[in-house]
Amino acid sequence: MRAIVVRPPGAGAELRNDVPPAPLTEGAVRVEVLECGVCGTDHDIVDGKYGRAPAGSPYLILGHENLGTVREVGPGVVGFAPGDLVVATVRRGCGRCRFCRSNRSDFCETGMFTERGIGGAHGYMAEEYVELPEYLVKVPPTLRPVAVLLEPLSVVEKAIFQGQRVLDRKEPTPGEPKTEVPTALVTGTGAIGMLASFVLTVRGYRVTAIDRHGEETLAAGLLGGIGARHVNVAGGLAAIGPHSRFDLVIEASGSAVLDFSLIEYLGPNGVLVLTGIPDAGGEPSRVPGGQLFRDVVLGNQALVGSVNANRTYFEAGLRDLTVIEERWPGRLGRMIEARRPLEEFAAVLSRRVGGTIKTVLTVRPGGAAAP
Ligand code: BGC
Repeated sequence: MRAIVVRPPGAGAELRNDVPPAPLTEGAVRVEVLECGVCGTDHDIVDGKYGRAPAGSPYLILGHENLGTVREVGPGVVGFAPGDLVVATVRRGCGRCRFCRSNRSDFCETGMFTERGIGGAHGYMAEEYVELPEYLVKVPPTLRPVAVLLEPLSVVEKAIFQGQRVLDRKEPTPGEPKTEVPTALVTGTGAIGMLASFVLTVRGYRVTAIDRHGEETLAAGLLGGIGARHVNVAGGLAAIGPHSRFDLVIEASGSAVLDFSLIEYLGPNGVLVLTGIPDAGGEPSRVPGGQLFRDVVLGNQALVGSVNANRTYFEAGLRDLTVIEERWPGRLGRMIEARRPLEEFAAVLSRRVGGTIKTVLTVRPGGAAAP
């Protein structure tokens, strides 16, 4: 079959026509891939900065943001039938720690997990893959145009859930009226930042999203259309406003220097959730640690890292996709600025072609009533 393969830690990617499809085993499902989103993690893998081939394999099939249709079910499979639209989760647990043994491999404590298309397990930029039903999330056909966003959305759902758990301590005591509109700052208007802005807006937050661009971009237009505020911080964070403090800050830019600065934008009892994965190298930064952490302690603030997502967050994402599509029909799908055929992988993966928010590689053209 055709597949995009990489050879980490080597840089580069290639399209091969001779990759053997996985055998369909008992209890498993064969899925034909329709399309795969491309994200920063894919770029890092192609740049040779991240990723690991499966044990014994000279290469890794790339791709973790996925959408496909069931082609065949193995003996013993219930609940799936050919034609079903599905998204597969990414992480496979270590099987040892209590989190992995209870379907929460996103909190794996041994680090011995694998991630399909990223580390130690083949991904989805291939004509087909085989997977167990427990890792497949069925998607209603109405969500076909946006369902390839479900995997990054699952990451956002987890991050917001983690932040919300901390913020629950700010809930009014029973009987006390809820008066304040919660506020959120989202840093970065790539796919994660945009999805976070959509979800937080439907949850009733007043959202401010920052990037380093003016009002002419697609991101700024989409944010305006959902009532979120966009601020260009190319000239500094001061543009956010002099006394701006937020209940929830969702960081989605992967800049360690920015991460430190964001602490100053936390309100009392607020929480900063970090989702971007900064470069481990780079210049060491000098930070006024005493002042920053003094404020964190005196303000009861929390800094939380959040990575990956288990199945429950994919299911939460499906619910939010439905709500978002009902509220702003077609708007979320505009985040996908480009759908390109698999043959154009080299230009897409090297960022020469594609959109500023999300680019998708089409594996099976015209499959399942493509948008
Ligand atoms: C993926 C996550 C993964 C993380 C770290 C992200 O791009 O969406 O599923 O856990 O990278 O590898």
